[in-house]
This record gives sequence, structure tokens and C-alpha cells, in this order.
Amino acid sequence: MNKTFTLMAFATVALLFAQCSTKKAATTPAPSTTAVEKHYSEAELAEGKTIWQEKCNKCHKLYLPESHTVAKWNPILTRMTKKAKLDDQQAGLVRAYVLANAKN
Ligand code: HEC
Repeated sequence: MNKTFTLMAFATVALLFAQCSTKKAATTPAPSTTAVEKHYSEAELAEGKTIWQEKCNKCHKLYLPESHTVAKWNPILTRMTKKAKLDDQQAGLVRAYVLANAKN
């Protein structure tokens, strides 16, 4: 009885997760600026801004977030955060700041 209940509970949770992820995949084609803002706190975005100001003007002028759309920024950020030798956490914060302020 107990075992069956536990199994049912697991099955229900698994089902909920499955529904959730398929829905998400179907309704979110590309990240939007609002989607990025929701996942990061003000403090994290501010930290991302600081890293961007310090690290992203070493080889060229500081490109403003609003100079590119989210779609354009995504591959550029992958290239540039590597060039700037940011670790994963720094790269994530810079990406969050830049995408949250990207051109619409
Ligand atoms: C080690 C040098 C170096 C660093 C550090 C660097 N960049 Fe760049 N960046 C380049 C070079 C070289 C180009 C031109 C060639 C290219 O696009 O790959 C460029 C081009 C760009 C462009 C224009 C790309 C386009 O296609 O219009 C943007 C935007 C940019 N960088 C943003 C950043 C950001 C944001 C950072 C910080 C995470 C950064 N860069 C750090 C070297 C660097």
C-alpha cells in the first residue's frame, strides 16, 4: 500500500515535469529580454554589468547591449566571453546583463 502510493506519487511528479518541459519547448522559440530579466536578480545583473565594463573593452570599444538583438548577441557572446577568458559564472552574468538590455 505504502509502496504503491510512493510509486504513484513519483509517477505523478514525473508526469508533471514531462508536461511542463514539453510545453516550454513548444511555447518558447527564442529567449526574450524579459525572459532573461526574470531569471536574474538586480544584483546579478549589476555584477554582469561590472564584468562587462571591465572585460569587454580590452580589444575594442565597449559594444553597448542595445547595439544588437538577443538573437545576434547569443553567438557573439559565446565567442567573446571565451576571448575575454571569463569563467562560466562570469560569462553567465555578462550574458544576463547584455541580453536583458539588448535591442528588441
Ligand atoms: C581578446 C580580445 C577580445 C575581448 C576580450 C573581447 N572581444 Fe569582442 N571582438 C574581438 C574581435 C577580434 C572582434 C572582431 C572579430 C569577431 O567578431 O570575432 C570582436 C567583435 C565583437 C563584437 C562585434 C561582433 C559582430 O559580429 O558584430 C561584439 C559585439 C563584441 N566583440 C563584444 C564583446 C563582448 C561583450 C566582450 C566581453 C565579454 C568582448 N567582445 C571581449 C575581440 C575581443
